[in-house]
Amino acid sequence: MLNKFRLWKKSTTSSTLRDKINEIKELPVPEHVAIIMDGNGRWAKKRALPRIAGHHEGMKVVRKTTMLANDLGVKTLTLYAFSTENWKRPKNEVEYIMKLPAEFLGTFLPELVKNNVQVKMMGYKDQLPVHTLRAIEKAIEETKNNNGLVLNFALNYGSRAEILDAVKLVLNDSKNGILKEADLNEEVFSSYLMTSDFADPDLLIRTSGEIRLSNFMLWQLAYSELWFTEVLWPDFNEEHLLEAIEVFQKRQRRFGGI
Ligand code: FPP
Repeated sequence: MLNKFRLWKKSTTSSTLRDKINEIKELPVPEHVAIIMDGNGRWAKKRALPRIAGHHEGMKVVRKTTMLANDLGVKTLTLYAFSTENWKRPKNEVEYIMKLPAEFLGTFLPELVKNNVQVKMMGYKDQLPVHTLRAIEKAIEETKNNNGLVLNFALNYGSRAEILDAVKLVLNDSKNGILKEADLNEEVFSSYLMTSDFADPDLLIRTSGEIRLSNFMLWQLAYSELWFTEVLWPDFNEEHLLEAIEVFQKRQRRFGGI
């Protein structure tokens, strides 16, 4: 009897979720959702577990979030997985995080391929361990012909460095006569950033109660809607993503107008 009740409860929960998904799909969904996945360490600490246990749990949430975003028709999901400042963390933690892309893609790449997800990465590749880069590049290659959700990992990414590098490229093109000062505008400058393939995020989500951008997409987030939640990333679930999108759908975006 107890088992039957559990099964019933489970199926009603998922049908409620399905209704919510359908409701949200009736209105425009954000084309580009960017997430600062924060709170893995605190999640682990609360359970007297090592910090890396929080990162492992966080990896599972990446899968669920990707699948739901794809289902909703989100075009790009950018996930801040490792910043250029995160190298300051203890060596064992950095090494563990660097193993996660291979573990994640080793387990879920077939599911991503099947669901038409295209994997991309932005960040400084040359400092990544070979095994990390190899796993990502394999996924990029195997999903390059997919045209569903773009799952964009921000890995060893830092926005100030990205902007400075863009400035250097602009100066170089100007020196070589490829770009004239008069032709430099916001759109052209954007094409020098790591995000040149993507539209700016419509919605930024940050978990864990921290209200800051932490050097993430500073140029690209100029007009994005921001949504912060106290929920720690390993506890972030489908309902939380739907809530964020629902709030987004109720906001009026003015882009500086009235
Ligand atoms: C921030 O939480 C989280 C990170 C720096 C790592 C995020 C990585 C994942 C969620 C897994 C990524 C998975 C793949 C597939 C690349 P924190 O450690 O700063 O948490 P705290 O603020 O509570 O200490």
